[in-house]
Amino acid sequence: MLKIAVLVSGGGTNLQAIIDSIEGGKLDNVRIVKVISNKEGAYALERAAKHGIEGICISPKSFGERADYFKALSEELKNSGTELIVLAGFLVVLSSDFVREWRGRIINIHPSLIPSFCGDGYYGLRVHEKALERGVKVTGATVHFVDEGTDTGPIILQKAVNVEDGDTPEILQKRVMEQAEWIILPRAIRMIADGSIKTS
Ligand code: GRF
Repeated sequence: MLKIAVLVSGGGTNLQAIIDSIEGGKLDNVRIVKVISNKEGAYALERAAKHGIEGICISPKSFGERADYFKALSEELKNSGTELIVLAGFLVVLSSDFVREWRGRIINIHPSLIPSFCGDGYYGLRVHEKALERGVKVTGATVHFVDEGTDTGPIILQKAVNVEDGDTPEILQKRVMEQAEWIILPRAIRMIADGSIKTS
């Protein structure tokens, strides 16, 4: 049984996709031991509560030093027996020390086909705004291991999504979530749980 913690900051639709996959029997060897938000009141915490999953907020604002925040976060994860950290709409940039401590056991979902539209400042709706500005005909989502860079770790899965005429950033974001993110994130977790990809 792979014990995962899901780190969130907002709506939690990717968390919901994981929960639905577990409850639907597609991820029967995975258990969410903790949902941790950096934002009080994130709707993702309500999604966790609705499914009997412990959700807590650990806010960087409660700590004088950034290092103390990451120490507390890591302690919480270790105490809950976390084996894989899943960043699902998590907007805090991880410290190098934290990444080193958990190297190979952190994955992230990014709403574009890396290496396009990624890196510093590329998150949420802005990714889709830039894709539309550039005029790409195909975009998508990527699941990758997290290293010390931003969206630079080894790619695990990608899924392409067509850009349609008249797309707004909101419409494109929704299509990328529905047709890519919510499919490849649970799939990547299953591959790690099955041992078909090594946490590297
Ligand atoms: C999504 O676009 C996801 O790709 C990005 O954060 C956004 C919000 O995700 N990482 P969620 O609805 O909170 O899962």
